[in-house]
Amino acid sequence: NEEQIALFTIFGGTGDLARRKLYPSLFRLYRKGFLKNKFAVIGTARREWTDDYYREVITTSIDALSPTEEEALAFSSHFYYQAHNVMDSAHYHSLKELADELDEKYQLEGNRLFYLAMAPNFFGTIVDHLKSEQIIDTRGYSRLIIEKPFGSSFESAQQLNEQIRAVFNEEQIFRIDHYLGKEMIQNISAVRFGNYIFESLWNNHYIDNIQVTLAEDLGVEDRGGYYDKSGALKDMIQNHILQVVALLAMEVPNTFSEKTIREEKIKALKAVRIYSEEEALENFVRGQYVSNTFNGKDIISYREETNVAPDSRTETFVAGKLVIDNFRWKGVPFYIRTGKQLTTKAARINVVFKPSPVNIFNPEDVCKTLPQNILTIYIQPTEGFSLTLNGKEVGPGFHLDPVKLDYRNTAEIIENSPEAYEKLVLDALKGDATNFTHWDEVSQSWRIVDVIRQAWDKEEGDIPTYKAGTMGPAEAFDLIKRENDDWVWKPDEWYRERD
Ligand code: BG6
Repeated sequence: NEEQIALFTIFGGTGDLARRKLYPSLFRLYRKGFLKNKFAVIGTARREWTDDYYREVITTSIDALSPTEEEALAFSSHFYYQAHNVMDSAHYHSLKELADELDEKYQLEGNRLFYLAMAPNFFGTIVDHLKSEQIIDTRGYSRLIIEKPFGSSFESAQQLNEQIRAVFNEEQIFRIDHYLGKEMIQNISAVRFGNYIFESLWNNHYIDNIQVTLAEDLGVEDRGGYYDKSGALKDMIQNHILQVVALLAMEVPNTFSEKTIREEKIKALKAVRIYSEEEALENFVRGQYVSNTFNGKDIISYREETNVAPDSRTETFVAGKLVIDNFRWKGVPFYIRTGKQLTTKAARINVVFKPSPVNIFNPEDVCKTLPQNILTIYIQPTEGFSLTLNGKEVGPGFHLDPVKLDYRNTAEIIENSPEAYEKLVLDALKGDATNFTHWDEVSQSWRIVDVIRQAWDKEEGDIPTYKAGTMGPAEAFDLIKRENDDWVWKPDEWYRERD
């Protein structure tokens, strides 16, 4: 494992994301030898902390990875803290001094990674100061890693992008979408382009519809303030789901490289139809969870959550049909859905193939369709693939029955595979932006969801609701039935209740 040399400056260094995801990821990279002696981390945030206190926080955040005391101390000794008011130039002076000092101490060769793990309203100010106070070191590389949300509409994203682009060029900007770091999301390309049997069928001649479900079984927890302004459309569809759709829908790149993959993803997103407001209302439904007792637990309504308006009209669930206007996908609906407080936490993709044109096994009615073949990609919590085929039922007579070829990663494989953030941070250290989102992808995704948002914002009255613990409002079910399709994945309770 090749040692990476860099100074990380983490804005939002005291925050939840840094503690839960970044520090453990850096520690894993340290353990594997990607980070050795030549790295240092400056954590900055408003709070007044000392280096010692910061290092204690670091040690606590990596506790679950069971380091020895010696290892934890050696790792955390690379961490430095500086209290920082992002609006105040004087603080950037001290930041520069500290950065230069650490660069010399650890021989960092001017390589700098700036990680913005905080509210996006300060991104512009921060990058301006990084430039004006000359914290960017021209001897090595400078890269900016940005957490979502990247804007809250096409317009605001564009403004933000312009501010950032005044300092960093596109190749230096690493916009995180942590779904792109997930093992099974990366596997979409492996399945498609590594198996000719699928790629040759991957079009509207053989595929009936594609379904993407990202279901969560938790509510908004302590993020009510953020979530109530965002809602599921901006929180999950604009980024994670549209990225998955791009990977599923893109053309075969000539080679498997950052540039070609990006180009193909951008083309695929550009082919996603931007609805009129009227079409948006026809093809997208939303819902908000209400209280229920589920699995023996009393779950409160979304409107009762902390920092959520008691009359909130924010959606905690979205289902919709996307249309891709190109040769490959004409006539193949992409159904997508996501929500909080659903039956279970699970993300999966179902590729539903067209049924055999004639059912020769049914002499009375050869038009009675056979069950459709389905390729399922299990993203989480279980990881793997399955292919549902029709086989002969064992015994006399000749009846067909669906059978499943099923492969799942073992718990041990899942446990030992690198976490999404770990992979993405390593990619950023290596300068590989394949699994980050390009501005053209972000901007196109905003164009797709903006219309839906606008159409919903013009509607009056309450939005549809669903009981916590179910798979969303009845409208999500009606939407797909209207097209004579059905959700492939139906956790039992939900199906019994609706069908
Ligand atoms: C984040 C959203 O981007 O993704 C959260 O802001 C959501 O609301 C999370 O819970 C889901 O990620 P994962 O990895 O748990 O599926």
